[in-house]
Amino acid sequence: MAKSTTIPETMHALQAVKLGSPEESLKYVEIETPKVTRPTDILIRIKATGVNPVEAKARAGNLPIPLPMPRIFGGDYAGIIVDKGSKVTDFNIGDAVYGALSVPITANGSCAEYMLASQNSGVIIKKPDNISFEEGAGFGVAMITAYQAITVLGNLPKEGAKKILVIGASGGVGTYAIQYAKTIPETQVVGICSGRNAELVRSIGADRVIDYTSTEAMDKLVKDEVETYDLIVDCIGGDDYYNQLVNVLKKKGTFATAVGPTMHIGAEKVGLFSGFMMGSTVLGRKLFGSRYYQVVIYLPWKKMATDINPLVASGKIKTVLRDDQIFDLKDGVQAHKKIESHRTVGKIIIRV
Ligand SMILES: NC(=O)c1ccc[n+]([C@@H]2O[C@H](COP(=O)([O-])OP(=O)(O)OC[C@H]3O[C@@H](n4cnc5c(N)ncnc54)[C@H](OP(=O)(O)O)[C@@H]3O)[C@@H](O)[C@H]2O)c1
Repeated sequence: MAKSTTIPETMHALQAVKLGSPEESLKYVEIETPKVTRPTDILIRIKATGVNPVEAKARAGNLPIPLPMPRIFGGDYAGIIVDKGSKVTDFNIGDAVYGALSVPITANGSCAEYMLASQNSGVIIKKPDNISFEEGAGFGVAMITAYQAITVLGNLPKEGAKKILVIGASGGVGTYAIQYAKTIPETQVVGICSGRNAELVRSIGADRVIDYTSTEAMDKLVKDEVETYDLIVDCIGGDDYYNQLVNVLKKKGTFATAVGPTMHIGAEKVGLFSGFMMGSTVLGRKLFGSRYYQVVIYLPWKKMATDINPLVASGKIKTVLRDDQIFDLKDGVQAHKKIESHRTVGKIIIRV
C-alpha cells in the first residue's frame, strides 16, 4: 500500500527544552515531521500517549543519566500507521495500533503528532476494536511492569491457591496489577490504597482492600495475616512498607518492587551517593533478607503482544481512565504536574 499522501512537513509536539519544572521544560512546538528512512521503520500518526512517572522524574533532572535536550518524551502510544519501511510485513498503512517504545525517556517519543517506531524494538500491536486509542495508550510501561513483577519475578506456585498483595493498587501499575493478578486461576488479590480509591480498586477485581491511611487496618493486616501471601507487588517503594509487610509473605514468598528502597524513587534527585546507598540496600535484601526480594528493571516488551493483548481483546484487562486525567497535547504541563503529585488514579493520557 502506498504511503499516506497527507503526512505534513511539520507537526506539533510537546518538547522538553531543558531540565526543570514542567513550565520551564515543556513547550508546545512545531517541528519537522520524522520520516521513514530504515527498512524496519514504522511512522505512526499518534492519537494518544500515556504518561509515566519516569518521564517527570527525567524531565526534572532527578535521574543520574545524561539527557541531551531538546527531546520529546513518551514511550507508550496508540495511533494509526501512515508509512513503513520495506521490511515491515506484519503491519499495513492504515492499521490502528498500540504499543510502547523500548525506552519511555527516548529522544523522539510519542508526545507528538507523528512518531517513528520500529518493528524490532519495544512492542507494536494491532489495536483490538474493543478499546479506544486513549485506553490503548495506557498499557505500555505500567502494564508490562505489573506482568514482570507477577509472572516473571513473582515465583508464584504453579498450582493451587495463591494470594497476592498490591501496594499502591490505585495507580497506573497497581490498577493493571490487580486486574492481571485476577486472571491467574485460584488467586486471591488484596489491594492497599487510600479509602477514597477503595471502591475503584474493588471494582477492577480486588477481593479486598486495605486503607493505608488507617493505622488500625494496617496493624490488623500485619497481625492477622502473617506468612499468608505468596507475592507482594510494591508500586510505592521505601523502607516502611517493606519492614512492615515482609512477614505477611510466606517463607518462600517474594517482595517484587517496581520502585526500590526509596519511596517514589526519583521524585527527589538521585545522586551518586544516594544511588549507591539504594543499591547496597537492594543487595542486602537480596542476600540476607528473610524473603525473596526482586526489583523490576527489565521490561519484556514482546510479552505484551503474546500474553497481555489477548486479555485486553477479551476485556479482562482495561485501562482505568478518568476524564480529568485526559489532557490535550498543548496542556502537557498539566499532565506532568498531575503525574508528579502521586495522586493519579489509573492512567494519565495525553490526547494528540
Ligand atoms: N521499575 C520499572 O521498570 C518501573 C516501571 C513503571 C513504574 N515504575 C515506578 O513505579 C511507581 C508506580 O508507578 P505508577 O505509574 O503506578 O505511579 P502513579 O500512577 O503515579 O501512582 C499513583 C498512585 O499511588 C498511590 N499512592 C501514593 N502514595 C501511596 C502510599 N503511601 N501508599 C499506597 N498508595 C499510594 C496514589 O493513591 P492515593 O492518592 O490514594 O494515595 C495513586 O493512586 C513509580 O515510582 C514509577 O516510577 C517503575
